[in-house]
Amino acid sequence: MEKLIINGPAKLNGSVRVSRAKNAYLPILAGVLLCEEPVTLKNIPELRDINTMKKLLENLGVKITGDNTAMTFDCSKIDHVEATYDLVKTMRASICVLGPLLTRFNEAKVSLPGGCAIGTRPIDIHLSKLEKLGANIQLEAGYVHATTKGLIGTNLVLDFPSVGATENILMAAVLAKGTTKIENCALEPEVTDLANFLNTMGAKITGIGTKTLVVEGVERLTGGEYEAIGDRIEAATYIIAGLMTNSEIKVEGFVPEHLEFVLNKMKAAGAKLEVEDQAVHVYPSKMTSIDVDTAPYPGFPTDVQAQFIALATTIEESSVITENIFENRFMHVPELVRMGADISLKGNAAIVKGGNTLVGAPVMCTDLRASAALVLAGLVAEGETEVQRVYHLDRGYEKLAMKLSNLGADIKRVD
Ligand code: UD1
Repeated sequence: MEKLIINGPAKLNGSVRVSRAKNAYLPILAGVLLCEEPVTLKNIPELRDINTMKKLLENLGVKITGDNTAMTFDCSKIDHVEATYDLVKTMRASICVLGPLLTRFNEAKVSLPGGCAIGTRPIDIHLSKLEKLGANIQLEAGYVHATTKGLIGTNLVLDFPSVGATENILMAAVLAKGTTKIENCALEPEVTDLANFLNTMGAKITGIGTKTLVVEGVERLTGGEYEAIGDRIEAATYIIAGLMTNSEIKVEGFVPEHLEFVLNKMKAAGAKLEVEDQAVHVYPSKMTSIDVDTAPYPGFPTDVQAQFIALATTIEESSVITENIFENRFMHVPELVRMGADISLKGNAAIVKGGNTLVGAPVMCTDLRASAALVLAGLVAEGETEVQRVYHLDRGYEKLAMKLSNLGADIKRVD
């Protein structure tokens, strides 16, 4: 099995360009199922999750041509409405095909999702709101089987601003009859990107970027071209790499406003950052403690929690990092402790007493962002860190070893 070997401590320099956002492209790839004419998507990152979604689409009868710089999806001849367990189990975002398939074909059968092992992740909001739109939903042998005589728009209020539920319901509403109002929806930039994509293909969505989306159902979506936003989580990870290694680097190819909360937290703790239109310059900084609580956007993203814990290990003060979105999302903590970090867990909070020199060790990836935290720790640790089960990283970080190596890190991928 492949692993990463990192020899630290590293000093970085130069610039790194982030890829287009996986978390934007996954729902958009589900959204192409709504389109009757070809859709071309630009600069899709080469990631395991993206490949899983492509396989899922091909199984449904979607014809895919081109390469990652410009990939075309022809959904004119869909001959299946079933997303099978073997594909869905590896990636929770697969549930996003439920809304599009159901609204376009009046039937969908999707295996209950798996994905990152970060706690119980129910889909009750997705299902109850689809029912309100007129779906008849049965749970059959691990599958959600949804049928309808035609979805009809209505007023919906989400119990929690779930990203996945907002996306699924939004896509279902696009072809529903009449108007759907979705209140308390997620505000994440990836949700906004999906809405912009759908409108580019002929949907009529207003209120984009607010807590209330209003969707006027249309008969059909056409096709067209789209390019997703830059990956704010990947950007945050490289900015943290710069801060942890006390380096001067430039992270580019994303909208810094999408990371406003994160960047403000960093600056308040002494990080020297210079923000441009599509880039952030990181300068060597002496940081003080960072206390953060994860929350729905525009709050602190759960997807940057693990990397912040790694950052906190390099700050000579105590920091408290609290996880409010998912339980069981601290699997990086015991691995970081094995590298010499002083971290204790109290309920959903991690108390990090920073400043210990980390020491390289063999460590194991457990989920995507936890793995990123281990790589970050490997960059500052003395000696060799062997990061095993790299396939978790391949789900969401395009060419991670190459990008870090280009910044000057001693990192290689070996079998
Ligand atoms: C979440 C993150 C998203 C991140 C992704 C991958 C939030 C709000 N969302 O999105 O930014 O990219 O993980 O790490 O931070 N929930 C229910 N019932 C549902 C749906 C969700 O109870 O039907 C709960 C979940 O258990 C969880 C919370 O709502 O506690 C957030 O879920 P949701 O936003 O749907 O998760 P993802 O879409 O996976």
